[in-house]
Amino acid sequence: MELNTIERDDLGAAAEDLVVPPAATRKVFVKTYGCQMNVYDSQRMTDALAIDGYAATDAIGEADLVLLNTCHIREKAAEKVYSELGRIRELKAERAKAGREMLVGVAGCVAQAEGAEIIRRSPAVDLVIGPQTYHRLPAVLAKARSGEKIVETDYAVEDKFEHLPQPKRAELIRRGVTAFLTVQEGCDKFCTFCVVPYTRGSEVSRPVAQIVAEAERLADAGVREVTLLGQNVNAWHGRGEDSEEWGLGRLLFRLAEIPGLARLRYTTSHPRDMDDELIAAHRDLPALMPYLHLPVQSGSDRILKAMNRRHMAKDYLTLIDRIRAARNDIALSGDFIVGFPGETEADFEATMQLVKDVNYASAFSFKYSPRPGTPGAEMNDQVPEAVKDERLQRLQALLLKQQRHFGASLVGRTIDTLVEKPGRQAGQKVGRSPWLQPVIVDEKAGEIGDIIQVRITKTGYNSLFAELA
Ligand code: SAH
Ligand code: SF4
Ligand code: F3S
Repeated sequence: MELNTIERDDLGAAAEDLVVPPAATRKVFVKTYGCQMNVYDSQRMTDALAIDGYAATDAIGEADLVLLNTCHIREKAAEKVYSELGRIRELKAERAKAGREMLVGVAGCVAQAEGAEIIRRSPAVDLVIGPQTYHRLPAVLAKARSGEKIVETDYAVEDKFEHLPQPKRAELIRRGVTAFLTVQEGCDKFCTFCVVPYTRGSEVSRPVAQIVAEAERLADAGVREVTLLGQNVNAWHGRGEDSEEWGLGRLLFRLAEIPGLARLRYTTSHPRDMDDELIAAHRDLPALMPYLHLPVQSGSDRILKAMNRRHMAKDYLTLIDRIRAARNDIALSGDFIVGFPGETEADFEATMQLVKDVNYASAFSFKYSPRPGTPGAEMNDQVPEAVKDERLQRLQALLLKQQRHFGASLVGRTIDTLVEKPGRQAGQKVGRSPWLQPVIVDEKAGEIGDIIQVRITKTGYNSLFAELA
């Protein structure tokens, strides 16, 4: 067995004491925080590392490399990383005592936002790598293994997707019948509360050919449902195979032609970028699932303006009407922020009213978290924590009621379900409804990857129970 020795003076061990295993036996543990884009990126990093000789592991204790793929969206999300790094530091010290090397990397949006500061706060960290530079990971690791601390957060000029290796077909099959596919990165909207334009950079659309090729690979590996991802996914645009400029609607029609792909979704959308063609796709494209995540954040025009959302509450409601006219069984989901600076009780009531007007099938709601470097953090009239707490509780109670109501409305109906994986309990399988709910069925109801017709018998906490129709 070939042994590599490296120098690590911060561990207090002599260079020749520390041993790294040869490439083929190295293991990487990846922990993912934040949004689906990070889930996708973690997979692509794992793919890049597989070529570099790292096998993925779920056991942090046996990892030669620990990668945290982090989120900076709210303070809590970012702070989680530091408490995790505290635990990892102890683990790393134990490993060093046992004479084995463990590299620690921080990727994702905290990496981009805080850079070298992370290594200052957590000396156990060996490398910091921003979301646009993952294709450089093997090179960065080679340097880190030789003892250098690396911070790689430049926005790469080259396209990371073009340089990231594709996973093996067997690996895609292992990942299951639903998949994410990032089509757009970054954001140019600059909402005043949000870090994304700073952590992910400006908006970039992946080219049509690259997306189609990736979707074909997924379909070839048995994937039935693909969710297109972007922080502003409906702003995606690109030159199509006919040399015309395509929007997301056209792209969806193209992807629906791929044999095997039965279901398409996209997330997350901005209300300003819902164009006619995309709305028409909801009417004319059966593969496009009748579920739309369309965040509005607030129902108050004053607050929407201060947030730089660039539309009014009425615009959003009109848009919802148009989308529902195109596809009447569409279920809506949203994001809300309570306690943005200057939010009065009347502003909050406007949000409650908008929620009542729209009637959501599901939603996410958050207390405003001032983020360093964003305009919102500098605003004067910050809302007290206790007020935010109280408003969040009221909003969540209303949203939960709507979500329950939506679930209950499906009981007795016959719907399509994509059989996705074995259930937690023996004898069961879990499927996915058109509206993203888990559907619990008997394991004999269908094979994984089948789309079956089921009748909903009752609702669970977050799921539906069903029998073969
Ligand atoms: N691109 C999406 C949102 C991405 S962030 C959009 O434009 O809608 C996901 C959600 O996190 C946001 O919709 C918002 O509700 C929430 N969020 C973002 N920044 C926040 C902050 N500073 N405090 C609290 N919630 C925040
Ligand atoms: Fe953030 Fe606004 Fe961009 Fe969404 S649209 S990612 S909330 S800046
Ligand atoms: Fe978080 Fe970055 Fe996604 S800040 S929400 S992981 S784009």
